[in-house]
Amino acid sequence: MVARIFHEEDVDTSILSGKRIAVIGFGNQGSSHALNLRDGGMDVVVGNIDDEYAKRANEQGFSVRPIRDAARYADIICMLIPDEVQPRVYKQSVENELSPGKALMFASGFNVHFGFIKPPRFVDVVMEAPRMIGVGVRELFLKGLGCATLVAVHHDYTGNARKIALAIAKAIGATRLGAFESTFEEEAILDLFSEQAFWSAFYELFKYWLEIATASGYDELVAALELYCSGEMVEETKAILETGVFRQMRFHSTTSQYGTITRGKRLVTGEVKRNIRKILREIETGRFAEEWMRTQRTGARAFHEARENLLKHRINMVEDQLADVRRQVSKVL
Ligand code: NAI
Repeated sequence: MVARIFHEEDVDTSILSGKRIAVIGFGNQGSSHALNLRDGGMDVVVGNIDDEYAKRANEQGFSVRPIRDAARYADIICMLIPDEVQPRVYKQSVENELSPGKALMFASGFNVHFGFIKPPRFVDVVMEAPRMIGVGVRELFLKGLGCATLVAVHHDYTGNARKIALAIAKAIGATRLGAFESTFEEEAILDLFSEQAFWSAFYELFKYWLEIATASGYDELVAALELYCSGEMVEETKAILETGVFRQMRFHSTTSQYGTITRGKRLVTGEVKRNIRKILREIETGRFAEEWMRTQRTGARAFHEARENLLKHRINMVEDQLADVRRQVSKVL
């Protein structure tokens, strides 16, 4: 099935006029959403706990309220705090402030699809999920551009849920590029699947490839340059985007193409393919989501230790030694 794509002329934002919007959270997505919505003339308040994000929102001239007050005030409540804290914050500060006809908006399908948040039947539940980091959402908006964004309706109480989701997408600039119709399920699953069965392998390979190269006696700086610090990887990624995954192969030497085509198949073998499917099943059945929530309830010590260990890996020292090269290259690419 091909996703339906909405552009500027397809969407009317008048459904938002007179509506009060609460942006809950002023982090990556929250700050960009609040600023873009306000620049579009919307009535926006920020709901936040008393922390440095609240200070930032204050400095940007927003009315910052406790989350419960913002949720009570608003017709549309945008849940833009980390997925793992949303269920508790929703229960404590949002659920009791919902009344018939209000709308709840999410930037990820995770909590609603996996059932950690169960909104009542008398509200609209929509998703507007940028495929872009928060800073990018703001920067593109300021340049008159937009970012690809998924929109979805989980529950349509008022009959206007889809219009609201699309109007918010337009207000943050998304329809300048395209808002793509999706579902909470599709967003939640594909997002986790790409993180866990593609990017995870990519990061593991960084470590393993460099470990093997240096253990085999090759200079670690030269190896890191070869792999990514020269910036060639960025050029290749740009070529993938501009020209296509396989069509850009023509920019590489035929020796490189031959090696890539013949050796890749040796790496992505039966076991790897089976694990990719297994990871997808873990996500689809909700086993991963349950594990992640349980991990946090029990303090997530192993996870925090693993993160700390990555920052002690030799790769970080090599990167420090190549700091000037990386900085200069990243400026021009
Ligand atoms: P973030 O980590 O930047 O959120 C920070 C905000 O959450 C701050 O305002 C902070 O005060 C608040 N917060 C943190 N802990 C809290 C707690 N215990 N109680 C109440 N508030 C708390 O979040 P981010 O990355 O903007 O994610 C928000 C939503 O956007 C999530 O649903 C995420 O999946 C989605 N999303 C994020 C993208 C990204 O690039 N970061 C991309 C697309 C969607």
